[in-house]
Amino acid sequence: MRAVVYTEYGDPDVLGVGEVEEPHAGRGQVRVAVRAASVNPIDWKVVSGAMSGGGRPDGPTVPGSDAAGVVDEVGEGVTGVQVGDPVFGLGSGTAAERAVLRAWAPKPPDVSFETAAGLGVAGETAVRVLDLLGLAEGRTVVVDGASGGVGIATVQVAVSRGLQVIGTSSSANADFVRSLGALHTPYGEGLADRVHEIAPDGVDGAVDTAGRGSVRDLVALTGDPGRVVTIADFGAAELGVQVTSGGGGGAARLAEVGALVVQGRLQMPVEAVYPLEQVAEAYRRSREGHVRGKLVLSV
Ligand SMILES: NC(=O)c1ccc[n+]([C@@H]2O[C@H](COP(=O)([O-])OP(=O)(O)OC[C@H]3O[C@@H](n4cnc5c(N)ncnc54)[C@H](OP(=O)(O)O)[C@@H]3O)[C@@H](O)[C@H]2O)c1
Repeated sequence: MRAVVYTEYGDPDVLGVGEVEEPHAGRGQVRVAVRAASVNPIDWKVVSGAMSGGGRPDGPTVPGSDAAGVVDEVGEGVTGVQVGDPVFGLGSGTAAERAVLRAWAPKPPDVSFETAAGLGVAGETAVRVLDLLGLAEGRTVVVDGASGGVGIATVQVAVSRGLQVIGTSSSANADFVRSLGALHTPYGEGLADRVHEIAPDGVDGAVDTAGRGSVRDLVALTGDPGRVVTIADFGAAELGVQVTSGGGGGAARLAEVGALVVQGRLQMPVEAVYPLEQVAEAYRRSREGHVRGKLVLSV
């Protein structure tokens, strides 16, 4: 099958398009004929070698962490999904014609495969961080980095749960963040003071989606490091902040995201769609760190 491949770590230029063996669905998995795969920062971090602990990739490797497509193999023990069903979800090696998913949900019928691809990692992460905070309806949450993939999903899932949301972004995205149902303030130095002006009684929880050094301000705002979750500042565990990374499960979280899309309560803008051959350009744009929504590879 055709796939994006790399055989050494480095800048996005190490990525090319080549032929590799098709994967097959193992127990508890499905395989999809991929229609689109989104670009997530984890992809270029892995390709850079920063997460490898030295050494080289174990042969030609296909990047990609989520996809939308049509199920074409159903693994042992899997129920509730059939060959031919359109789904979106989480996997590895998704920037390819075929990919195995470990967690999935039905593709919302009224969105494109490109949009659905962008709901995987961003949507699952959003639900995961909000579940970790466990805030009751009416509580206030700060989302630092509200205009990126995870931030957009987090704001909208939080609003759907009846939370008051204060979202940060660059000034260019202020109106966009407000359009998601959040109050807005710029990110960066002085964040705690600005949020305090908006919410003088304090906030009940905070999510750092950006990993740009905001956690101390977020702890000051919540008054408790346990009420701050970060997905990108792994040093913050020392402060008692909850640090979460992907892992098992995810299907129920994806189902919640899919249902919100069907209800018209969650949108995920696609900033650009690239053919597989332009994967390096897509990764470079993601790496610049100012995408509104998602970049997507069309397969
Ligand atoms: N641990 C996990 O489970 C997990 C899961 C998913 C993602 N992640 C990580 O979380 C991070 C975000 O992922 P993503 O997919 O949302 O990335 P993304 O879509 O590329 O998000 C980029 C956003 O970051 C915002 N931003 C830039 N500088 C900022 C700053 N100083 N403070 C606050 N926000 C800033 C940008 O806003 P403006 O454009 O308005 O500047 C942009 O909208 C990445 O590091 C990723 O690897 C972790």
